[in-house]
Amino acid sequence: MKALSKVAKAVQASTTIEIDMKFKRMKAEGIDVIGFGMGEPDFNTPENVKQAGIRAIENNLTRYTPAAGTMDVRNAISYRLKEDWDLEYAADEIVVTGGAKHMVYVVLKTLVNPGDEVILPAPYWVTYYEAIKMVGGVPVILETTAETDLKITPELLKEAICPETKCIILNNPSNPSGMMYTKDELEALAKVCVEEDLYIIADEIYDKLVFDGQVFTPVASLGEEVKERTILINGVSKTYAMTGWRIGYACGPKEIMKVISNYLSHCMSGTSSISQAAAIEALTGPQDSVEAMRKEFEARRDYMYARIENIPGVSAIKSPATFYMFMNIDGFIGKKLYGVPVRDADDFAALLLDKGLVAVVPGTGFGAPNYVRWSFAVSMETIEKGMDRLEEFLDAAQAEEIGRFNLDLGLAQSEMAALEAFINAHRAAYEAELAAEQAAKGEN
Ligand SMILES: Cc1ncc(COP(=O)(O)O)c(C=O)c1O
Repeated sequence: MKALSKVAKAVQASTTIEIDMKFKRMKAEGIDVIGFGMGEPDFNTPENVKQAGIRAIENNLTRYTPAAGTMDVRNAISYRLKEDWDLEYAADEIVVTGGAKHMVYVVLKTLVNPGDEVILPAPYWVTYYEAIKMVGGVPVILETTAETDLKITPELLKEAICPETKCIILNNPSNPSGMMYTKDELEALAKVCVEEDLYIIADEIYDKLVFDGQVFTPVASLGEEVKERTILINGVSKTYAMTGWRIGYACGPKEIMKVISNYLSHCMSGTSSISQAAAIEALTGPQDSVEAMRKEFEARRDYMYARIENIPGVSAIKSPATFYMFMNIDGFIGKKLYGVPVRDADDFAALLLDKGLVAVVPGTGFGAPNYVRWSFAVSMETIEKGMDRLEEFLDAAQAEEIGRFNLDLGLAQSEMAALEAFINAHRAAYEAELAAEQAAKGEN
């Protein structure tokens, strides 16, 4: 049989889904594991929204809708953006599809020609990296450090730009790190994008899950010059606990939205009519459930952060937003835990699952191999149990230094032993040679 598409074969499965599958397998086998892997609210969709979905079925709203989404749902999105952020988008500047994830792909497909570079700050949501490759683009990763709270700077951005650079993906607040750019920081980045003529793909799906009274700034609110090159992506999944309904949207200049809509007309034909009706209620109905969920996430974040800060060897950023906590495990890289070398977060997460019975997502797939991601979209009781287990797991780990050099080579223990034997043998031969030389010199 002929080979499958090279592009399709190069796509990696989502690491967030992979860890969740392993966790579910263990659970099905009756093992008492607890999962902190998946990125979805543990709350139910608010009652008024569910009822709107039921009514849509009863009223036979069960047919194809326009490719860009119904006029009513686009008006509802327009209303919410104006209410929340004073952003003006007309219905023809809005396109709806089956989730923000699908929209990320379609927007990239619309902007990127094969070979175009797309700037992607790390740590990044794993889907961006794969989606850029899926459209033939070249991901250009911008590494960040804990010193800048895992944020990029205008200088870093400028350095990465070349004639092939088409756009940047700015995910703010961020999955996986939970960080959020301030208005000033965003302004400085947006200025570079305007000067260098880059499109900004602004994924702002966590815009409502912000803590400590901090203020979120949508990129598109930074002035007309910025707005006209920004494609805002959002959805109802996280804010309204509607992950299964599959509604995401993009807002931007109408010429771009028209191209997206044309594309969708051939690969979607409008997302579920029932979900669109439910989304209208979510966006235009009472918003108190949003605040209730946000408050609960904040309390969980506070608890998880306080616990992690008290566990030797690990640390975390006190996520100003989202429902993720990014835990730094740098102190364990280059060590053996339970006799097993820890080269990166993959090794750490695998051990934590096997020995600690806790599933977290390794940062490796997010471009941050020294971090693991905890989701606090789980009950407080589960978080308490998870933190207890983390503590016990590390207490019993008997960390043993083996050095990063060994790990960086990526060698298995047996290969390392062979390499060490080889080096030792050569060292011994060299020392013997040296001794013989010295002896000969002495004789002269
Ligand atoms: C940054 C980011 N964007 C988009 C999505 C996907 O949202 P949706 O359910 O609307 O596809 C997620 C989900 O994890 C996410 O973390």
